[in-house]
Amino acid sequence: MSYVLSNGKPLLSQKATNDGHAENSPYFDGWKAYDSDPFHPTQNPSGVIQMGLAEHQLCFNLVQKWLENNPEASICTKEGVDKFRDIAIFQDYHGLPEFDRDLCWRTGVRLLPVVCHSSNNFKVTRKALEEAYAKAVEANITVKGLLITNPSNPLGTILDRDTLREAMSFINEKNIHLVCDEIYAATVFRQPDFISIAEIIEEDQEYNRDLVHIIYSLSKDMGFPGFRVGIVYSYNDAVVECGRKMSSFGLVSSQTQNLIASMLSDDQFIEKFLLESAGRLATRHKDFTDGLRQVGIKCLNSNAGLFLWMDLKGFLRESTVEAETALWRVIINDVKLNVSPGSSFHCSEPGWFRICIANMNEETMKVALARIQKFVQRNGDKLNRKEKCWQSDLRLRLSFRRMDDVLRSPCSMSPHSPIPQSPLVRART
Ligand SMILES: Cc1ncc(COP(=O)(O)O)c(C=O)c1O
Repeated sequence: MSYVLSNGKPLLSQKATNDGHAENSPYFDGWKAYDSDPFHPTQNPSGVIQMGLAEHQLCFNLVQKWLENNPEASICTKEGVDKFRDIAIFQDYHGLPEFDRDLCWRTGVRLLPVVCHSSNNFKVTRKALEEAYAKAVEANITVKGLLITNPSNPLGTILDRDTLREAMSFINEKNIHLVCDEIYAATVFRQPDFISIAEIIEEDQEYNRDLVHIIYSLSKDMGFPGFRVGIVYSYNDAVVECGRKMSSFGLVSSQTQNLIASMLSDDQFIEKFLLESAGRLATRHKDFTDGLRQVGIKCLNSNAGLFLWMDLKGFLRESTVEAETALWRVIINDVKLNVSPGSSFHCSEPGWFRICIANMNEETMKVALARIQKFVQRNGDKLNRKEKCWQSDLRLRLSFRRMDDVLRSPCSMSPHSPIPQSPLVRART
């Protein structure tokens, strides 16, 4: 395709033709592998299993039932309710797991990672923030803001109160913005509970609220990425006003607004949904981590999110990004699982991988785990001795318990919770 006119002048702008979208980056090989050979339990049982999508497919039966009981909320009829799932989860997944494409390509913003370490479970410390800031200053880059994701993608952990306070005092001192992405707020499935930055702000009147902006969407907690419902909850009126003006071309359709407003206003349904969702995510998390642990694979201890942060350092031939990429290719091409390598999240320690666990049914999960088991059996000698905890019988002994049996730890994410919540649960028309 030519981007140049016959007189040598560019046909399209640099923005339209540059590689900022990163679709040509090697990370897209995983998507391509899945696209060209997708797993199907009967039609393509040896195909690639999609484990790169942070998607929540575990609660659709609840939503379908609600739709059947509330036909006036949508133009969907009972006959069409089975299509709801496919429409709700439809998404352009040709993105990268980190924010580079989402934030940088169109805006020109530069993202600088705050480097965190496994030694303290990748905690965002004041030291790490100061180091990242100092590095930027040294490189003559004006820092405009701090972007945090709470609960974290890809870690599946929540930011504790002290970390959030630290982030608030850091941005206040530097006089920069804080964008807090709370898109996974209701995926917390066991304690510690989620704490919104909105709560931290309430603690201290000295904080400059004009600097704080919360973002949210229904893509993760409710599992509706196809509906494209996003929220900016800013304490800064000028930002809200500007967002309102800019949203003209990207409004959520009125049909979707009508349906979602009605659903979110149904306190009884939302309360039940959140409880069930937490229970199902807890079961899935337990089944998966148990299965991995049985073959000696550890994951970061997490309590939220739609994924696991899996430690495969023991399988690297050396501790480099190249070795991680080589292992990733083996996982895609031989194990046939599309997972995301740590380097695609700017993780500074090679050997970590994110696997999404909530975008598949139980049967597919069993296949995925069996494949990992087989892979470990074949490559067991490469696994670090100290990290080994082999079972004499390597068959995965998963107990696929009924949902009702699931341990449901108390979780205060409900529409009736007295604590201030992320805008999601309280959202009203
Ligand atoms: C932390 C985080 N923020 C935002 C998004 C974007 O979600 P969407 O555009 O589907 O609402 C994602 C999607 O994976 C995410 O993980």
